[in-house]
Amino acid sequence: MKNYKRIIIAFIITLIPLFLVACGEKEQDTKSLKTGLKPTEINNEAFKKIFPLHYASYLKNNEMEDTKYGGSKPRSKFSLDKEPLLPILFNGYAFATDYNEERGHTYSLEDITKTLRVSDKTTGSCMTCKSTASPVLIQEMGDHFWKANFRNEVLPKVDAKGHNSVGCSDCHDPVNMNLRITRPMFITAMKERGIDVTKASRNDMRSYVCGQCHVEYYFKATTNKVTFPWKNGFKAENMYQYYEDEKANGFMKDFAHSLSGTPILKGQHPDFEMFMEGPHAKAGVSCSDCHMEYEREDNGKKISSHFWTSPLKTMDTSCGTCHSSRDMDDLKTQVIGIQTTYKEALDRAQDISTDAHYYVNKMITTGVDSTKVSSAQEQIRLGQWLWDFCAAENSTGFHNAQGSMDNLMKSTNASNKAIQIATEELVKKGVNIDTLKSEIEKAKAAVVGEKDTSKKHTFATNDYFPAQKQVITPIK
Ligand code: HEC
Ligand code: HEC
Ligand code: HEC
Ligand code: HEC
Repeated sequence: MKNYKRIIIAFIITLIPLFLVACGEKEQDTKSLKTGLKPTEINNEAFKKIFPLHYASYLKNNEMEDTKYGGSKPRSKFSLDKEPLLPILFNGYAFATDYNEERGHTYSLEDITKTLRVSDKTTGSCMTCKSTASPVLIQEMGDHFWKANFRNEVLPKVDAKGHNSVGCSDCHDPVNMNLRITRPMFITAMKERGIDVTKASRNDMRSYVCGQCHVEYYFKATTNKVTFPWKNGFKAENMYQYYEDEKANGFMKDFAHSLSGTPILKGQHPDFEMFMEGPHAKAGVSCSDCHMEYEREDNGKKISSHFWTSPLKTMDTSCGTCHSSRDMDDLKTQVIGIQTTYKEALDRAQDISTDAHYYVNKMITTGVDSTKVSSAQEQIRLGQWLWDFCAAENSTGFHNAQGSMDNLMKSTNASNKAIQIATEELVKKGVNIDTLKSEIEKAKAAVVGEKDTSKKHTFATNDYFPAQKQVITPIK
């Protein structure tokens, strides 16, 4: 069996250069196009007349269909088969009140205006990746954009511009349809990594356009500017170190956890970073190879699909082009297998991370020495970050199976260390660990059992585990 696998891998590797040539070939080179559109065009309707096939393909993003682990039906991440302990892990933060699975590009504006996470205090930063008008506003408003009020200032401004959810102008120069980067923080962050994106190859651009939005980010202290923490690298641990260093610049946390008081970092969809460290990116495969496969239209023309969805729905065209020696049903079973192993590890890490918050809550309420509390909190912060980096990533482990499993193992180790530190101190204080454990299970059951997703978080704390801070920190 092992040998069989090795032969296949060797076979694939020998064919890599072939794949890259075959898969990079394009029906239509955008370099020769002249659209007649103005360079500032941000409305999809204007592109519709010139590229009706692409526009029609784009509209398919409205379709909603789930796969075993992914997909696009509007669903709460708190669902039993998803991540039911999130209202505890994000307790004290707006993510504990409302957090849904992502869906198609055409829904981003609807979803951002509807989520309970957006409050009266939410700022312009949250609009950055949701509207085709954001790059224009960033230019017009300068650094005020990041701090401007989301509902009262930024939303009316983008609406007035006739914009769209993630649209043509986000990735294409309207004049000639060349791929382009429109989000300035991507350019800055890549420069910090020594990469000049103006010199990027077309193949790199086929991932970079996605890397503008499908990434980890934070709001810089004082300016509130959306920033990508990539200076040290794309791995979860590189970014953890970045955030440790960023404390000196005033960025301590995304929120303080209401059970353990830990300053927590919230991970944000690091699809690009996780992918870049995985086997496909290392072999020169781009996001668009799988997510923008060729579509054959009725008139026989081939276009790059603009329906960004699960490639598991289009295995023949998304994967079969390169893995032509494989049976597609077989390959799909392999993917689901990778995802299932990953999901089990994710659930385990999530569970232990949750327990750790309760143990540290008990340390605080029984008056354990604060240096011991801090050292347990440090392990919680690291453990939750490593877990969330995977949980917030959208491929259920596929983009980088090995890297994801490594993160989850390290996450589990760190959370277990927090529990170990707590247990030693709590035993000294005479706390009954069996009682503690059963109270933890009761609290978890109460959260999971509540049907109203927006109320689940209120059951995470109780008389036995009193909240350390009652307020919910809004998303800035
Ligand atoms: C080798 C093929 C491949 C490449 C390249 C690839 N992906 Fe994926 N992607 C997948 C698969 C497979 C899934 C899992 C889909 C599922 O579970 O239904 C996925 C899932 C996703 C999802 C979630 C989709 C859903 O239905 O929930 C997003 C978002 C995503 N990828 C973005 C990206 C981005 C951004 C890049 C480049 C940085 C990228 N992908 C590169 C194969 C790929
Ligand atoms: C999220 C990024 C993104 C958005 C949004 C987007 N495109 Fe594309 N588009 C791409 C990529 C990537 C390619 C492949 C380019 C290549 O291989 O050189 C592409 C290719 C094209 C091409 C070249 C022909 C082809 O099929 O490969 C046309 C024309 C095009 N897009 C039109 C549109 C139109 C019209 C819209 C809006 C309705 C749009 N695109 C929205 C990323 C995007
Ligand atoms: C301007 C920002 C932006 C860019 C550029 C962008 N995306 Fe997205 N993408 C989003 C947002 C926001 C969502 C979630 C929308 C929602 O849930 O309402 C999303 C969702 C998705 C999904 C999930 C669809 C589903 O059915 O669950 C996939 C897959 C995806 N993007 C792939 C890509 C790929 C591949 C590229 C590059 C070719 C890309 N995106 C470029 C912002 C962007
Ligand atoms: C552009 C070419 C290309 C496309 C498209 C592509 N692959 Fe791959 N794939 C490769 C190459 C090359 C490797 C070998 C990478 C290595 O082993 O270093 C690979 C390796 C793999 C592996 C083994 C490595 C791992 O992650 O365990 C799996 C599984 C896989 N691909 C699944 C898929 C699926 C599923 C799709 C479609 C969603 C897909 N591939 C699309 C080129 C591609």
